[in-house]
Amino acid sequence: MKLLLALLATATAVKFKPHVNKTHKVLPKGLLRDDLQFPLFVHIPKTAGTSIWKALGPNYTDSGRYPEVPFFCMKHNPPQEHVPDSWAVVRDVCDRLVSEFAWARLQGWYQAYQKEGLHYHEEPNCTTFNKWVSLVTRKYQDNSDVEDCHMIPQWCYASKVDKVLPMTSHLEEDIRHMDKRLQFLNLPKKNHHSHFVKKMNVSCGCLSPANLEAVQTHFLEDFVHLRSVLGPSQFEPKAAAQPNFAVKRSVCASFRRSGKQVKLSR
Ligand SMILES: *[C@@H]1O[C@H](CO)[C@@H](O)[C@H](O)[C@H]1NC(C)=O
Ligand SMILES: *[C@@H]1O[C@H](CO)[C@@H](O)[C@H](O)[C@H]1NC(C)=O
Ligand SMILES: *[C@@H]1O[C@H](CO)[C@@H](O)[C@H](O)[C@H]1NC(C)=O
Ligand SMILES: *[C@@H]1O[C@H](CO)[C@@H](O)[C@H](O)[C@H]1NC(C)=O
Repeated sequence: MKLLLALLATATAVKFKPHVNKTHKVLPKGLLRDDLQFPLFVHIPKTAGTSIWKALGPNYTDSGRYPEVPFFCMKHNPPQEHVPDSWAVVRDVCDRLVSEFAWARLQGWYQAYQKEGLHYHEEPNCTTFNKWVSLVTRKYQDNSDVEDCHMIPQWCYASKVDKVLPMTSHLEEDIRHMDKRLQFLNLPKKNHHSHFVKKMNVSCGCLSPANLEAVQTHFLEDFVHLRSVLGPSQFEPKAAAQPNFAVKRSVCASFRRSGKQVKLSR
């Protein structure tokens, strides 16, 4: 626990540099309400968000609380700018990807992959995981909101919040410690879509070299910037471990929809 908090403190101090002007918060009209007593939860898709929604209630979890990238994703369009008094939960990059694969298979729109040779009735194993990874990373190039924004790197959210916590079995305790306004929070038990997929030994370990490289490139900022919170990943690119490595082109700097650049408000 001590170690974790120390890690978090380092992460917060070193990696997260929110530009908060306490004396004068410049907020777009109608976005943040000043009656809110809790910090705002910024939902990064596939990181325990639904449990946290349930625990916090709509005032702290709804869309429209801050300027969002104009997608139509379920309460988790990425923020366009720093969100004052906010927090988020982050998760191991590959666990999140596998969890998304497990969830995606159960959605109707997964059938869109059928014409490209990926059938929803096929079992989730290394073969189908590889197929899905190549299809979904390719699709992202034209539609960053593919699969309800679940393929957007976590850094596109985490870089906009004040505090991040790792997704662990003691998340409830960590949230309570993080902010005394949340010390009474009760997290409901979460549901696992990944269980079956894990049993099939689906992990980044079964990716082909080309697919692993695609994942490392797409999620480079997560591997690099979330490392101080999550620890090193078994599947990270070598660059993530270099102390002064600088990401050249940020995936979070631009989003696309139907092949076109999404216009942001500033
Ligand atoms: C905060 O905002 C106020 C009003 O815009 C400005 O006068 C002040 O210099 C700002 N402080 C910092 C530290 O940026
Ligand atoms: C949510 O916000 C509404 C409108 O400000 C308020 O009436 C209500 O009491 C709030 N609910 C909670 C749980 O904070
Ligand atoms: C995965 O499942 C598919 C279809 O169900 C099958 O054709 C393939 O051989 C399986 N691959 C592995 C590695 O088990
Ligand atoms: C998964 O891996 C374990 C350990 O290597 C092995 O015992 C098990 O048979 C594997 N399961 C499948 C479905 O391949």
